[in-house]
Amino acid sequence: RIPEPCALVIFGVTGDLARKKLIPAVYDLANRGLLPPSFAVLGFARRDWGDGDFEDIARKAAQSGARTAWREEVWSRLAGNIKFVPGSFEDDAAFDHLAQTLSDLHDESGIPGNAAFYLSIPPSAFPVVLKQLERTGMSDNAKSGGWRRVVVEKPFGYNLATARQLNDLVDDAFTAQDVFRIDHYLGKETVQNIMALRFANNLFEPVWNSNYVDSVQITMAEDVGIGTRAGFYDTVGTARDVVQNHLMQLLALVAMEEPTAFDATAIRTEKLKVLNAITVPTDVFTNTVRGQYLTGWVAGERVPGYLEEKDVPEESKTETYVAMRLGVQNRRWAGVPFYVRAGKRMPRRVTELAISFKKAPHLPFHQTDVEMLGHNQLVIRVQPDEGVMLKFGSKVPGTTMEVRDIAMDFQYGEAFTDASPEAYERLILDVLVGDKTLFPDSAEVEASWNVIDPLEEAWTGSTPEPYRAGEWGPRAADEMLAREGRAWRRA
Ligand code: BG6
Repeated sequence: RIPEPCALVIFGVTGDLARKKLIPAVYDLANRGLLPPSFAVLGFARRDWGDGDFEDIARKAAQSGARTAWREEVWSRLAGNIKFVPGSFEDDAAFDHLAQTLSDLHDESGIPGNAAFYLSIPPSAFPVVLKQLERTGMSDNAKSGGWRRVVVEKPFGYNLATARQLNDLVDDAFTAQDVFRIDHYLGKETVQNIMALRFANNLFEPVWNSNYVDSVQITMAEDVGIGTRAGFYDTVGTARDVVQNHLMQLLALVAMEEPTAFDATAIRTEKLKVLNAITVPTDVFTNTVRGQYLTGWVAGERVPGYLEEKDVPEESKTETYVAMRLGVQNRRWAGVPFYVRAGKRMPRRVTELAISFKKAPHLPFHQTDVEMLGHNQLVIRVQPDEGVMLKFGSKVPGTTMEVRDIAMDFQYGEAFTDASPEAYERLILDVLVGDKTLFPDSAEVEASWNVIDPLEEAWTGSTPEPYRAGEWGPRAADEMLAREGRAWRRA
């Protein structure tokens, strides 16, 4: 899977994402031999830089962020075709210059009209950039003599209405098949493995339904706070930041039917059915919990509370934690609760999906300590310590018949020796080869907002529950499960 000769144009090249993820990913792809021999990176930003300045900055970014070893010859080859176009998004002349630079690549480096435009910019800048791409004909496949694709980073709108506007805007400039919406969770190996685990094995599918599954938990815990992102984060909160996208995609993958083919259309069809079947609790305050972190200790370090973070408004009611009980209204999942939670400043960074099975209906022996034997559980650990764990009961060696939970563990680090590609590496490559399998489409985005919008509406004006940094969220989140005789997994 090597792309055709092409260019990657990055808007917002001075931002964090470009520096920490995109440029290192491009280097890693080059280093793995996955880029075409003729390949160019074009940066666009409002900076007084020349090609050389940008190359220097890109080199530093690649050196500090790359997952593969540094090889000067690989970088030199890339660096030969790294270009910078200075300008603001409103500047027509700068976009004309960009268009010219792209078409010059044909004679200079034998790159036909192929280019992907990566919009790593705030959503407020989308309209103007898309208009410029349209005005200059850069978004037009026919005019450019090659393919033209656009990569849109989240947030995909602020709610359903703004997501629709954004989708319309992108669709005006590009044809639907050329639009790639990035949800970087889908680029993670362990997330792709959900489909392998479910559909390449015969063991799990027969019990993957409400006859056997008691409940599903999806956790995305981060130990970090909001850092310097208050400007963005305070306007969105956890539900919009990660539940609407990453966690809804995880839920869709774990709950969907087997796709009829392993391609973008078939997978999207199945994911969309699940997203449309998600039921949102009508009693929102009983079945969801919003939290906001107070000062506390994380990994031995005292950290500030959310309201003390730089640029957070004094009386902000934005949540940094959210837990919710969702359902999936279809035959497979009727009655099975899907507990979803995400939070900042948790004790540890961990993302996992835990499928809890119903207990054996009957035990033929006398178990004195019932606490020792819980539910069978299959835990898909997305990160870190990537792997899959199966928990089941086993006889404790001794003269009595006591059964206790034990774990059978598969760890990527032990089973596979090669370092897996970073999510952005995989996704950038997919954009360049034109493979949309791992990209959510507009209908999925809109269906996910249909889950979040009613919750946001109900939460309006409410104050999130405080929790101490370094704890697993507010007590109310534990109580929400305890009421149903369950508990969050100690992730
Ligand atoms: C981003 C969110 O989409 O995902 C961030 O905006 C979050 O708030 C990040 O920290 C987490 O990504 P990862 O890959 O580190 O789990």
